[in-house]
Amino acid sequence: MPRKILVTNALPYANGDIHLGHLVGYIQGDIWVRFQRMRGNTVHYVCADDTHGTPIMLRAEREGITPEALIARVHGEHLRDFTDFGVAFDNYHSTHSPENRAYAEDIYAKLKAAQLIDTRAIEQFYDPVKEMFLPDRFIKGECPKCGAADQYGDNCEVCGAAYAPTELKNPYSAVSGAKPVLKSSEHYFFRLSDERAVRFLREWTRGANAAGTRRLQAEAANKMKEWLGEEGENKLSDWDISRDAPYFGFEIPGAPGKYFYVWLDAPIGYLASFRNLAEKRGDIPVEDFTDAARAQAAGTEMVHFIGKDILYFHALFWPAMLEFAGYRTPTQLCVNGFLTVDGAKMSKSRGTFITARSYIEQGLNPEWLRYYFAAKSNGSMEDVDLSLDDLIAKVNSDLVGKFVNIASRCAGFIAKRFEGRLGASDPKATAEFESAFEAATIAQAYEERDYGRALREIMRLADLANQYVNDHKPWELAKQEGQDARLLTVCSTALTLFRDLALYLKPVLPALAAKVEAFLAIEPMTWRDAWKPLPAGHVVQAYQHLMTRVERKQIDALLEANRESLAPAAPASDAKAAATHSQQRHAEKQQHAAQAAEGAPAHISIDDFAKVELRIAKIVAAEHVEGADKLIRLQLDIGEERPRQVFAGIKSAYDPATLVGRLTVMVANLAPRKMKFGMSEGMVLAASDETGVVGGLYILSPDSGAAPGMRVK
Ligand code: MSP
Ligand code: ZN
Repeated sequence: MPRKILVTNALPYANGDIHLGHLVGYIQGDIWVRFQRMRGNTVHYVCADDTHGTPIMLRAEREGITPEALIARVHGEHLRDFTDFGVAFDNYHSTHSPENRAYAEDIYAKLKAAQLIDTRAIEQFYDPVKEMFLPDRFIKGECPKCGAADQYGDNCEVCGAAYAPTELKNPYSAVSGAKPVLKSSEHYFFRLSDERAVRFLREWTRGANAAGTRRLQAEAANKMKEWLGEEGENKLSDWDISRDAPYFGFEIPGAPGKYFYVWLDAPIGYLASFRNLAEKRGDIPVEDFTDAARAQAAGTEMVHFIGKDILYFHALFWPAMLEFAGYRTPTQLCVNGFLTVDGAKMSKSRGTFITARSYIEQGLNPEWLRYYFAAKSNGSMEDVDLSLDDLIAKVNSDLVGKFVNIASRCAGFIAKRFEGRLGASDPKATAEFESAFEAATIAQAYEERDYGRALREIMRLADLANQYVNDHKPWELAKQEGQDARLLTVCSTALTLFRDLALYLKPVLPALAAKVEAFLAIEPMTWRDAWKPLPAGHVVQAYQHLMTRVERKQIDALLEANRESLAPAAPASDAKAAATHSQQRHAEKQQHAAQAAEGAPAHISIDDFAKVELRIAKIVAAEHVEGADKLIRLQLDIGEERPRQVFAGIKSAYDPATLVGRLTVMVANLAPRKMKFGMSEGMVLAASDETGVVGGLYILSPDSGAAPGMRVK
């Protein structure tokens, strides 16, 4: 029975350009969809722009246009970018749409009827000049922990501390520059802490899709365990789903001046885009995919591709919202890690913050990137590194050197000597290939989104096919008398193998596969065509070159095009936007801070490093800190008279009991700091990804033999 799957990709915010980081997840989704269709499954693949919220409202204001005009322009840009990279949604809609409003209101009404909506007053920072409540990212001030200036209201980019905006010193509004005041207002909450929700989410975590693939990757399932806590425990808090006017979004029915928080209606946008598609098409039974009972009866699936930073929204709020509103819940989440370029976070000064548009404009082939991202995808939530030299090497060696090479070495003889007419393939040779090669492995790897494994297997076949051509040397047969039949068989066999390779590569390289289909004059390839030799007598088209090599200079030009000069840029729209003096001042301050961070020299001297006194420390005591949700209090022996007390933000990752007795590494010469809970006399080092949470936290351990107090240098 063919599967019926609704597939979505995360909805990009309508206030920024698509960049290569975004494309990781979109390309992974698109490959999966193309694979499923080649297998004969029915897939509806939808996306939309995520259009609501304060940043979009303020950006439109800065540009002097309405939010509607802004989102219409960005919608066109985003759709064009995706299309150019071969990411072929059946529908690309908007969360600012009638379908989305209708679904959001319906889901809200049902949650309310299920007694899962609460209201309560909360105090928040309010900008008295702009007359609006400020989201955390729009409040800035000095970090309460390290004192760094111009830090956001939720965390410090200098010391990494996380805190509430009310803890900032000398806070100011990033919108108007005014000093914010605390103001109370009534908010609406989704009662995620309700035991029904907790029970449901525990159950939901355990599911699988129709192919038996787990609903959540191992790392995501672990996160769920951490968020949900032990059986019988309840760690979930209610979720604030309302925002006060002025806000660009949907007003909450029966609550004038209150709007749905952007993250409430964003995932609902998946359903809205799908309904909009169904209305255009007229032949899709929408409720079979959206209604809980009907989806169950019809056996449909709903699969979401998302990045790891938005797992929390998709694994907790979203399934719970759907479940208690009588909608079908997600069958599977496919979560991708974050993109780094040449081992580092994308950077505007290095030119590695590469937009999708610039890649196209520089004339690079989108399928180079699709191939590279696929080769680096293994179905896990690990981060993906785009090594530019590696991309060049991989594309040139695999696609041009191995794959295209097979056709380019054989096609000419078929055209020149046999008027494009194929002979019969050598049945013994094709049978040997088939048995040396695991087509089922490839299908399974695609299903599990382990595209790297699929491509390794496919390249193994490419090696075998090249070996076959090398062994039979058509260029020599062509020179010998009476070898015409042999020449025809060898070239026809090689082209059948080439067709098989193209077929297996097709989910990743749809444009290249289409060129192959045109060259071979065959119908669009599906999985069923594998290992069926091209028939004798079939006429192929003249061979045209299929793919060029990547040159380093093209990559350099791409980096150059994306490099932002460090001279203060003053785009006309921003200058115009500086409505008030203080706003301008803060915008400048912000820019300087960003430049200071970005423009810092890439190297430090050995003397700079020597200033940091790192020592081996033995953890002699570790305990939770009452009232602190991130901290563990450590007592660290570094061979001094008495142990040092250090507060480490590692509670999410470690049980204090397991730390006692371990050796680790501490910074011993940090100025002691008085904290709410006591003095902190140093710092322990821990590894984490840039979010500091999603990928886990790992403290360091020395090799055995190291003793407390030893210097690390
Ligand atoms: N609007 C939300 C998603 C709402 S879904 C109901 C959002 N938008 S986004 O534009 O910030 O990101 C869109 C997608 O791209 C998300 O899946 C996000 O995780 C992913 N990525 C954004 N930057 C990325 C990298 N640098 N690397 C990999 N994926 C990245 O989040
Ligand atoms: Zn700080």
